[in-house]
Amino acid sequence: MLSDVRIAPSILAADQLRLAEQIELIKTADYIHFDVMDGVFVPNLTFGPGLLAQLKEETDLPIDVHLMICDPDRRVGAYLSAGADIVSFHYEAQLHAHRTLYAIKEHGAKAAIALNPGTPAAALESLIDEVDMVLVMSVNPGFGGQTFIDSTYRKLRQIRRMAAEHGVSPVVEVDGGVGVNNAERIVHCGANILVAGSSVFKAADPAAAIADIRSAGERGLNRRS
Ligand code: DX5
Ligand code: ZN
Repeated sequence: MLSDVRIAPSILAADQLRLAEQIELIKTADYIHFDVMDGVFVPNLTFGPGLLAQLKEETDLPIDVHLMICDPDRRVGAYLSAGADIVSFHYEAQLHAHRTLYAIKEHGAKAAIALNPGTPAAALESLIDEVDMVLVMSVNPGFGGQTFIDSTYRKLRQIRRMAAEHGVSPVVEVDGGVGVNNAERIVHCGANILVAGSSVFKAADPAAAIADIRSAGERGLNRRS
């Protein structure tokens, strides 16, 4: 379990034609969130392992790769070789979750399972002992700029309870519609890593937005029992 709040700006919301400059603006973040979409699991298409390898050359920040793709078991290797530091794949997209988790860990990266908003926390029962992180989607994946789904708060509390029952403490990350207005409550309910796309890259001052979201999150952490 982390004892701090970490911010992972999603470059999906960045100006893709000026990516190197945009990365410079978020140097105070803790991770770069890299959204991989295959046009099948989600109705949008984004980045592949080639861009990930280039990004690794450009930044020292660890890269948090979110695979929104079908059949992650067959395709995760390319992202590991390209330098992914954390890899999340979706519960709804896999047939062999443990095999994929072990492959990620054997490569030395952190392994995470992602849950869509419609997937109950109970889906984690047989996986929570094995994961380094749980990625809780607070929007239906596919696009940036969507509205945070409120049932996420309850799911975060359920995951905290389940982790305590299992005697484990995976890091919890929340992704989708996160900003300064809801960061405190999200962290209070159990998340330590906040993905923020639009609320960072569409802000006039991305570094200030990172600092504001972080302080809001820290207020939530201080209120946690
Ligand atoms: C959605 C992606 C998110 C997205 C978040 O499918 O997984 O990471 O970039 O964007 P915002 O913060 O704008 O909701
Ligand atoms: Zn994401």
